[in-house]
Amino acid sequence: MCGIFGSVADKVEYNTIKQGLKNLAYRGYDSAGIAVATNGGVVIERTEGHPKFLPDLGLTGTVAIGHNRWATHSPPTKENSHPYTSNDNKISLVHNGIIENYAEVRRFLEEKGFTFYSQTDTEVLPNLIQFYLSQGDNLQAAMRHTAKHVEGAFGVIFIHADHPNQMNLMKLGSPMYVGRADEAVYVCSDAYSFPEEVKTFSSIDDSKILIIRKDSVDVQDLNGTKLTLIFEEKNISADTYCLGKHEHYMQKEIHEQFDYVVSALAGRIRDAEIKLGGLEDCVESFAESKQVIFTGCGSAHNAALVGALAMEEVGRLMCRQMPAGELKYTDLLVDDKTWLITVSQSGETADVIGCIKNMRNKGAKVLGVVNTPNSTIYQMTDCGIHIRAGKEVSVASTKAVTNQMLAMLLLAYKIGLENGCSYRDYKAFLSEVQKLPYFINKVIAQEQKIRDICEHYKDSKTAFVIGRNVLEFIAKETALKVKEISYIHAEGYSGSELKHGPLALIDDKIMNICLLDKNFYPEKTMSNIEEIRARGGKVILITNYTKQEVDNKIYDRLISTETGENKFVTAMVFNVVGQLLSYHFALHNGRDVDLPRNLAKSVTVE
Ligand code: AGP
Repeated sequence: MCGIFGSVADKVEYNTIKQGLKNLAYRGYDSAGIAVATNGGVVIERTEGHPKFLPDLGLTGTVAIGHNRWATHSPPTKENSHPYTSNDNKISLVHNGIIENYAEVRRFLEEKGFTFYSQTDTEVLPNLIQFYLSQGDNLQAAMRHTAKHVEGAFGVIFIHADHPNQMNLMKLGSPMYVGRADEAVYVCSDAYSFPEEVKTFSSIDDSKILIIRKDSVDVQDLNGTKLTLIFEEKNISADTYCLGKHEHYMQKEIHEQFDYVVSALAGRIRDAEIKLGGLEDCVESFAESKQVIFTGCGSAHNAALVGALAMEEVGRLMCRQMPAGELKYTDLLVDDKTWLITVSQSGETADVIGCIKNMRNKGAKVLGVVNTPNSTIYQMTDCGIHIRAGKEVSVASTKAVTNQMLAMLLLAYKIGLENGCSYRDYKAFLSEVQKLPYFINKVIAQEQKIRDICEHYKDSKTAFVIGRNVLEFIAKETALKVKEISYIHAEGYSGSELKHGPLALIDDKIMNICLLDKNFYPEKTMSNIEEIRARGGKVILITNYTKQEVDNKIYDRLISTETGENKFVTAMVFNVVGQLLSYHFALHNGRDVDLPRNLAKSVTVE
């Protein structure tokens, strides 16, 4: 995690760095800091919390760097915020990642007389650079020696007071991008958060050392070999950070789903054929695989659960699924007939990256369900499907989850057609999935009603979300979202599992969100709802039955919404109801919807 933003130019505005950090706040908002090299020396500002709490200053300099912190090694205080300075006060440094052998490096430096003012891993970095400079290294050699001396993952930029016209960068494992504008060069943790004036950008590979000046970027590897950076056009929409009529990014991103689902489908269904351009070279080998393993973290893992069920039931391939953080350390039977499907919005999630490395070592091939071109995960896969969900800013993932599920359904039906899915079912799916944007808008049209329901139940301490089959995974996803942003404790369960334990908890204080698909064994879910009602549990019913079709004794509140008959498409529609419920529970409870406590958008640490 953590966000890094820096710039070098004739005149770098402190407020430009602050704005860059605000754009990157999704990566961490425990504390923030900025260092600016001016004629009078390096000025440093720090704050606890979100970067918006940094002071506004009319300060300019020749190089400036900034950092948003997601705390790992020490409490999220102002004192522990970056930039960190070296003992000689010449180096101001910001860091994303973890230095695993920092205790050992710290002892090494203490023996040389260095002192430390924090317990963080980062503080060893500026001092180690100072140490190598004191041994006669020039700046690049000191960076190379430092990069080789430490173990872990890092993206680092720093200012050296003796070189006030350059920014220095070391990269191993944490995402870093360099962007070029006419009068300035920027460094940023993602390619979306550059200022508008940036025209081209380059993703920095691992094990690289960069010296960045306003009109040049010198790159070398850890052996000192000079390299050239390839820059590409930046075609990224300017309105990503514009809230428009919405109160929060989460609300904006929920509402945008109509457009992004349309975009994800564009050109992918032609003449009753599913076309997935990124898979052309590997679809044959994929269709012959012996097993497919689906993985991801958090909401992406919930989407993977949906994908795995669809691939098994429709695609007729043997599937299993596991959260990436577990899969990475599980010794599954894997060979070169295994495909791993990794689902990740950011494309930078450390557990997923670790999983890919592990599975590859065992011979598996990797298909990425990705939203961020050029991300680390995108670059590690053999082939993939771009979900085309646009940039997600809110920490809670919404539109990306919808499009992840959509991408995996398209894949399942594409493979299914080869593996025995009936043409009738296939055609029915194609026609229904194209109505998904319409169904989603029908849900969004009910936002006021959902808002009112949430107001009524906002003080609930616990929510059970239940559903069967694919709706179990939507139940899990809804529960995750409710927990994540409203801080109401919530559990997502299969309705069938209720009587094997959780039913003991049901009484009139428990809110139950029940997902009922009239086209998939509705009587079974009805029985589960009856079991809840018999114990006095409150029921918010989400269903595709109309009000007239359902007995009003089985619910307290009803959210009836239109779907077709395909259970997977229905699941995606119900999921949008869950997104709106969690959003409005959070609002009614006065939560910071886009930046929930203790979390970050992109989890680049294990
Ligand atoms: C969802 O709302 C979460 N914030 C979180 O679970 C997220 O989906 C997870 O961290 C995975 O992120 P990724 O898709 O960027 O890999």
